[in-house]
Amino acid sequence: MTLPVTHPAPRPTRSQGAEPAGLASATALALATVRRNIEEFGERFPGDCSVADRYRDRVGGPVPGANVGWTTGFRTGMIWLAGELSPDPVLERAGLRDVASFTQRLARRVDLETHDLGFLYMPSCVTAWRLLGDRDGRAAAIGAADALMTRFIEPAGIFQAWGGLGDGDQSGRAIIDSGMNMPLLYWASAETGDPRYAQAATRHMRQLRDHLLRRDDSTFHTFIWHAQTGAPLRGTTAQGYSDTSCWARGQAWAIYGFALGSRWSGEPTFLDAARRSAAYYLDHAPADGVPYWDLVFQDDASGQPRDSSVAAIAVCGLLELANLVSDSAESERYRRAALTAIDTLIRGYVPDPSSRPNAQLLHGVYDIPSGAGVDEANLWGDYFYVEALMRLIRPAWTPYWLTGLETPA
Ligand code: GLY
Repeated sequence: MTLPVTHPAPRPTRSQGAEPAGLASATALALATVRRNIEEFGERFPGDCSVADRYRDRVGGPVPGANVGWTTGFRTGMIWLAGELSPDPVLERAGLRDVASFTQRLARRVDLETHDLGFLYMPSCVTAWRLLGDRDGRAAAIGAADALMTRFIEPAGIFQAWGGLGDGDQSGRAIIDSGMNMPLLYWASAETGDPRYAQAATRHMRQLRDHLLRRDDSTFHTFIWHAQTGAPLRGTTAQGYSDTSCWARGQAWAIYGFALGSRWSGEPTFLDAARRSAAYYLDHAPADGVPYWDLVFQDDASGQPRDSSVAAIAVCGLLELANLVSDSAESERYRRAALTAIDTLIRGYVPDPSSRPNAQLLHGVYDIPSGAGVDEANLWGDYFYVEALMRLIRPAWTPYWLTGLETPA
């Protein structure tokens, strides 16, 4: 069997340019929060978003704190990040307890009807395999990749994002966030030698490139194909301001998702798609690097909230892109934009340490149209903020989304 051709990029071995002030103290606070949360929550998972800036037990499952929804993998990912920065058996035990929960979730088929299996299983189970050689984590992650493969709509060449495959409203819908779920499939091909996962991922990424990335380099949040004929039908939004505006988090997912797709597949057009996504993002984000929830809004006069999670995701995507482009001035532009944004986050968006916070990053937005998680912390914002700190502290670190493509020591 032929493995997908991959193109590992050289990763910088040292920081280029000034580090943001406060990086060390921000990291110390982030690690203290991860540790405190292990005591506060134990095996229970926090909710997607905080309530009045504090997380509570997750709701929506059979018991409080159950492993349901699309964001629980970020809690585990933060535990592994903390464990890499500050090794400790307490962190290792907590991470492995989460892996056992993800194994059970897969075995019992709990809330698996989603494309977000990459968000769930890559920072948790794939990472347990990478860091500890944990075979249960590996098995669960391959099972999750198999579950994701059942969502591939062959005529359209896409993975359906939400709902059951027979669900009329959701049938044939892919969303821009999904580029971040494809690394699970690329990893599964690299790990098992079966190329089908990677082939499907690349077909899906091409459809995102051709239909969700618009001519002006902004993105649709979602796009619908005819599930039987595969005909591309229309772009639409669920969490953005309008079907024609650009949901800010979607644009950040596009930068990072296309950059990761480029690394895994070696397709130059994915790198180009990441660069186009970044160009639109940087043209429409405020100078301090923390955008409003939709890029149609560009200043405080709009009265609209900012979404700190967008900035955290974009910092990681821009730093990845900075590693990939060959032009040094372009690379430096991405790196500077990332440093500006992380500096703004550290100065204005992390909680006061004296409040013994259980969140990492305040002032995020989940979903304005439904009113969920507005001006609250959220687990993905927290995770990508801590990943961004890791990237700045250890520039040669390979992100969890690229496990299997580590640069040899
Ligand atoms: N992936 C879902 C979101 O970003 O809200």
